Amino acid sequence: MSISAYDFILRRMATILSVAIVTLSAIAAITGILLSFYYEPSAGGAYQSLKWIDSEVTNGALIHSIHDLAGTLLIGTALIQMVVMFLGRQFRSSWLTGWISGILLILTSIGLAWTAIILDWSQEGYWRFRIELSTIEAIPLIGHTLRDILVGGGAVNTTTVEHLYTIHSYLLSAGAIVLAVIHLWGILRQEKEIKGEVASIPELSVQNKAEMT
Ligand code: HEM
Repeated sequence: MSISAYDFILRRMATILSVAIVTLSAIAAITGILLSFYYEPSAGGAYQSLKWIDSEVTNGALIHSIHDLAGTLLIGTALIQMVVMFLGRQFRSSWLTGWISGILLILTSIGLAWTAIILDWSQEGYWRFRIELSTIEAIPLIGHTLRDILVGGGAVNTTTVEHLYTIHSYLLSAGAIVLAVIHLWGILRQEKEIKGEVASIPELSVQNKAEMT
């Protein structure tokens, strides 16, 4: 496969975006842990505790906003990075780690945003969650079981907030961090491999090789 300056720029962009993804995941996880010191995962209590964080806790509103922003930017950055990788035509089999971890990371960050819908126990979040639950329930064969796992059986109440909080703050956030690190590792491995390939092209001058790696 020939390596052009265009490929080089896209490859570098993919690496920079991967570093941004790891940073955003770390920021979201750290601010999430800070929020959890005051957050109460219960119906009603969730809304009150987030209001308390925003108004009474020192730097609470800032930490809350940073968490929301980092989580939202994570989805956007992960999507843009996949497009950059696609345009860079990095379809070698050795890019598989980067592709698979990138796709799983996008799904995990969407899952994090989705599980957070009910975490603030606002009117908007509550009704949005109820509507989306009916869509989940309509999935053939597994719909009802999935609904029961998410809701905790019966009505949407404190058990539901606890379930989604556990999925959000333990399972998915740990998954996002692991996937972000694997993704960056995969991308850096490719950088190294391509550098080796460029170095072995005899027709290229030393200056050209330096520009492409
Ligand atoms: C990689 C890690 C994480 C990501 C990407 C992430 C992402 C998000 C997103 C996108 C939201 C919704 C923001 C919005 O309403 O606009 C959210 C809300 C929330 N997250 Fe996380 N989160 C992460 C880790 C954690 C952890 C570790 C905790 C707690 C231990 C946590 C606790 C919360 C809480 C309490 C909310 C509700 C706040 C609200 O609705 O405004 N998060 N998170």
